Amino acid sequence: MRTPSSPTIFPADYTRIKVVRSFYELVTTPLAGEINALCWERTLPGDFREIVERLGGGEGIVPVGDSRLDVLSLSDAGKVARDLLLEDQQLLRSCDLAPGLDCIHDSPRDVSGGPFPVDVFSFHADSATAAADTYLCSYTEAASEVLRNDEARRRVDIPETRAELLKLFGGEDNSDFLEFLNEHYYDLHYAPAAGARPSSFGLGNLWRIATDYPGSPVPPCIHRAPPATPGRPPRLLLIS
Ligand SMILES: [Fe+2]
Repeated sequence: MRTPSSPTIFPADYTRIKVVRSFYELVTTPLAGEINALCWERTLPGDFREIVERLGGGEGIVPVGDSRLDVLSLSDAGKVARDLLLEDQQLLRSCDLAPGLDCIHDSPRDVSGGPFPVDVFSFHADSATAAADTYLCSYTEAASEVLRNDEARRRVDIPETRAELLKLFGGEDNSDFLEFLNEHYYDLHYAPAAGARPSSFGLGNLWRIATDYPGSPVPPCIHRAPPATPGRPPRLLLIS
């Protein structure tokens, strides 16, 4: 696993990820043609771990509102980090987006016992009913990971898995079955190909990634939360 201080390295031959140099470029570059992910690559100053420490303990996913950040007592480096957290959200709000900052101690696991787990630790596409993209930035700990589309296969398209799902559904492979797959998010999850090389989104980078929505001109960006490491501090994640 990449350590937080090492740079993000994207496969040079992979044309679906475009690195941009400004917030303006991030929000105005269309996700079209080959491109299904934009990365505003940044090395942020400030101490984000101090923010996490000051937020204190908790469990699950704890939303961190601006007012909670405002009242933290911080060092100068912590204040720099706080200003960036507020500024990133302000930038997104100025584009009519509704960002949220989360302190993630742990994310819910899928314990339904289906053929494969449908939780954030499994490679998946985000979905929307109308045109919408996901924005995200990891500030501390391990960052989210991206899987190349050419190294991903929808799990429902793998014959053995589809057979298992059909058994679970208890009917024919028809439109009702497709609805069943959709209702249970089975159709949004992907298996990495043998030898697949997922990349880290990297810390501090603000990403805009394509979701799965009707009529999208590009395939969705496949990603997952990093595996949880027991004993590590929580992750600070911006998502919109
Ligand atoms: Fe996601």
